Amino acid sequence: MKVARFSKMGFILAAAGSAVGLGNIWKFPYIAGEYGGGAFVLVYLLTVLLIGFSIMIAEMLIGYLGRKDTVTSFEELAPTHKGRWKFAGFQSLAGLFIMIFYSVVIGWIFNYIVTSVTTLPSSVKEAETTFNAMLHTGFKTQLFYHTAAFIWITYVLTKGIKGGIEKMNFILMPALMVILGGMFIYATTLDTFHQAVEFMFYPDWSKINSTAFVVAVGHAFFTLSLGMGAIMTYSASMEKGSNLVKNAFWVVFLDTTIAIVAGLMLFTFLYQYGSGPAKGPGLVFISLPAAFYEMGVLGNIFAVLFFIALAFAGLTSSVSLVEPMVQYFIDRFGWSRLKASISMGTFFWFFGIFAILSNVDGYKEFLTWGSKSFFDWVDYVTAAIMLPLGGLAMAIFVGFAMDKSKVESIMRPQLKWAFDIWYFSLRYITPVAMFVVILSLMGII
Ligand code: PFF
Repeated sequence: MKVARFSKMGFILAAAGSAVGLGNIWKFPYIAGEYGGGAFVLVYLLTVLLIGFSIMIAEMLIGYLGRKDTVTSFEELAPTHKGRWKFAGFQSLAGLFIMIFYSVVIGWIFNYIVTSVTTLPSSVKEAETTFNAMLHTGFKTQLFYHTAAFIWITYVLTKGIKGGIEKMNFILMPALMVILGGMFIYATTLDTFHQAVEFMFYPDWSKINSTAFVVAVGHAFFTLSLGMGAIMTYSASMEKGSNLVKNAFWVVFLDTTIAIVAGLMLFTFLYQYGSGPAKGPGLVFISLPAAFYEMGVLGNIFAVLFFIALAFAGLTSSVSLVEPMVQYFIDRFGWSRLKASISMGTFFWFFGIFAILSNVDGYKEFLTWGSKSFFDWVDYVTAAIMLPLGGLAMAIFVGFAMDKSKVESIMRPQLKWAFDIWYFSLRYITPVAMFVVILSLMGII
């Protein structure tokens, strides 16, 4: 059977499609707001450059050489202890878990696309009421749109690498860039644009503390889709002879640029028409719609376009979150793609219902442990623990377990003088940083 592979451009778009997601447009602006802007953004950028880029190359290398699902790739590439290393491949489970809440958020976005056509909230108060009504009492609405997201994502997965994933990214990624680019250009013409620039790039070091540092590192992983085998699985279908460093560069570049463009645009709108940089997850669902309202009809158009772009970003990431486990069942158990896609889809759809219920009045009491709902727990455990652990495993695998001469023979010609820096970063900088992040997030330090 001929194995389907991404085209060159197809790979970059698909991997960038994975990276550019809700993390860039929904999460990044609000956590940047929460942790005081500039200083946080700088720490995040440094992490992306020093750690994210290295791990991205390492993850691509494992996938590119392994050519299989994550479990098999680790197993086959490990020179010794194959049976043990194969467990590192189960980092792919994180993607399925992330989907439990990710799909629900995409559902909210679908809902906002529809309602923004006719109605925008006239004040932040009203926007808050609308959002909370959906969250706490709108079970049916959330279930309906969560199911729509599940059907879309599963359908694309059944179509495979070429006819599904590559094709979708070829359409949605350029569309997303055009929408965001257009809105960004409009934002640059507003008086408050410079305030947004200042907010995002003027570092106020007094606002940075160890929590902000840890959040920045964790977010760098999440936003670059690292630590759960998504990039690895896509790389298994990369064309032979591809330049991993160039590919990694494009993915990191596009992801970072889109996060910054989205952040600048959102903050400009919030300064110009709203109440300034809002904090918290409600930023795009509460403060932003209220700011769009102030723009009149243009606001409705912008709101619909914005939520469409956000949905596109989320959908292209979603397929990459599920694909590793789909590939796993195809490669290890000989399942058909159809069976694997529908089974994995059903998994996140089913548990997604509990994520919805964990915010709904009358149910949330039963689905909240400690101060976190089931929804928040899934987010926390995946982003705070599973992804950094996955990243740690990859750094150690490429840095220590894999044969250095093999790694060097492929990577030195591509990295040239930077090879030693990369290798050093994988062996020492990344593991130490990951370890600190994990301990700190678990509240140990
Ligand atoms: N990078 C995606 C985002 O920023 O929303 C989320 C994500 C996708 C995380 C794929 C991890 C992953 F493997």
